[in-house]
Amino acid sequence: MKIIIRNNSSEGSIWAAHYIARRIREKAAVSDKPFVIGLCTGSTPIETYAELIRMVEAGELSFKNVISFNMDEYVGLPVEHPESYHSFMHRYLFDHTDQPAENIHILDGNAKDLAAECEAYEKAIVEAGGFDLFLGGVGEDGHIAFNEPFSSLSSRTRVVTLTQDTREVNARFFDGDFNKVPKQALTVGVATVLSAKEVVILAFGSKKARAIKDAVEGPMSHYCTLSGLQNHPAGTIVCDENSISEVKVSSYRYFKAVEAAENL
Ligand code: GLP
Repeated sequence: MKIIIRNNSSEGSIWAAHYIARRIREKAAVSDKPFVIGLCTGSTPIETYAELIRMVEAGELSFKNVISFNMDEYVGLPVEHPESYHSFMHRYLFDHTDQPAENIHILDGNAKDLAAECEAYEKAIVEAGGFDLFLGGVGEDGHIAFNEPFSSLSSRTRVVTLTQDTREVNARFFDGDFNKVPKQALTVGVATVLSAKEVVILAFGSKKARAIKDAVEGPMSHYCTLSGLQNHPAGTIVCDENSISEVKVSSYRYFKAVEAAENL
């Protein structure tokens, strides 16, 4: 696992956007196959998406040959609801790039048969060639996508029940009203995320410090599902000084030394 530490969330977001852009360009230079990316929602990736959009508008990057699969969606929330992850992704990314509509995949939380929807999603990911890169965020309790504590680290796409904590944290998007936050979601599993060739996680702010400490220094455990990244050959967490603040000083120094030595 690599940890990138930047002074603040803006610098971390720019780092991540440029890293993703480099990976898209590198694949395009050697292959006609699409770049398959997993995408996340939440307040954390917004600046990364803004920088990707800037690059597209400047003609420095294209999403024409990018296929995306979002990691999760609420169950029962109308697609046109401003806080559905469909709306979020169009608002903050898809409406501003050249990615073809048919290359965009988001779980349908209003499907009649939710289990069938999840199964079809896993199949579609395989048919697209599997993920080149998965971009994720992390919840305050260390959850990745909507894989709440005690989700199996070998879980796949499925219906989940959200914890009280997650619904309280996400109430900020629903007029501060906990009762308006859906109780269930569809989410890719931990193993779905870890099936990607590469995983990049963004974690900014002191609210994420405990999750980062548990994921990086704690045991690999279903208690903190991001800790599953410890078992991935190419996992990177992009932090700022606040989110990394709970790890041991010796760990912090090591990450900084690797960054300097490898010019990350
Ligand atoms: C939700 C999403 C996660 C996201 C998390 C953190 O639970 N399902 O994918 O990582 O929120 O959100 P934020 O970036 O707003 O802190």
